[in-house]
Amino acid sequence: MSRLVPVPRPSVRVRAPGKVNLALCVGAPREDGYHPLVTIFQAVSLVEDLELTTTPEGSGISLAVSGLHAEAVPTDATNLAWRAVELVAARLGVEPDVRIDIVKGVPVGGGMAGGSADAAAALVAADHLWDGGLPRDELHGLAAELGSDVPFGLLGHTAVGTGRGHLLTPAMTRGDLHWAFATRTRGLSTPAVFRAFDEHVGGPDELAPDDVAPLMAALRRGDAVAVGAALRNDLQAASLALAPELAETIEVAEGAGSLGAIVSGSGPTVAALARSRQHALAICAAWTAAGVADDVHTATGPVAGARVVTAV
Ligand code: C5P
Repeated sequence: MSRLVPVPRPSVRVRAPGKVNLALCVGAPREDGYHPLVTIFQAVSLVEDLELTTTPEGSGISLAVSGLHAEAVPTDATNLAWRAVELVAARLGVEPDVRIDIVKGVPVGGGMAGGSADAAAALVAADHLWDGGLPRDELHGLAAELGSDVPFGLLGHTAVGTGRGHLLTPAMTRGDLHWAFATRTRGLSTPAVFRAFDEHVGGPDELAPDDVAPLMAALRRGDAVAVGAALRNDLQAASLALAPELAETIEVAEGAGSLGAIVSGSGPTVAALARSRQHALAICAAWTAAGVADDVHTATGPVAGARVVTAV
């Protein structure tokens, strides 16, 4: 009797979201150089679509990127999605003969974790393509190896992140939040922003998780006004030190009546909370008229984490 060898599927398409940090509380760096965080992530409707297609035996991995600022994304083994496919293949003991096609909808290098979303999508897609059936916590472990924001790309919705940002607890929320995002072509390097934070600001040795309690309560009530008032990003001063032009982007959003406007993650994307989708569009129009953004987007949150959208 011949042994059953699992046949890979022809292709799998997975969608994963970008994120905004509603709160980002940053402590003093640990011995490994990472900063302890207490953060509240929200997944938003700017998404990455990633398709894995089985290619002939021995062809290895190839990767192509299209969509929003695709030219800025590496298409070699340094791409997090490529590394994610390698990790799952090694874990399952299969040869990774696949083409990875990414359609970007999350601004590149903007502090919205687009690369992390690709990695999360690639983990889910590879597991599905090869029928790996890896348990969720195992995928989560691989995600944490790839980067601090990758586990949240798997989970989606709204969650509290601790540790490096990779230890997640889902947060209760009510209703949708409407966002406007102002992006810049010139990105900010996350390590450089953390270094500037250490130099100019400096985090406490102990973070107080209670700091985010008012924000959590506002999310539970679905009170967008209170959410806007409680938005917080400890990295913002460091991002503004490296990119002072972002201050005007925040001021214009506030002038357009945003409920709160902050730098997203390490920036340079600015996130403004709006009262409605129409209001988010009005904030985008104000940014465009003032010439304080290279591109603008609206989105809603929360949305789901990485999930299979088609498989054949
Ligand atoms: O984990 P990830 O590779 O995404 O992090 C990118 C960089 O961001 C790290 O090399 C580090 O400089 C910085 N970082 C940090 N503290 C965190 C997360 C990221 O200092 N909690």
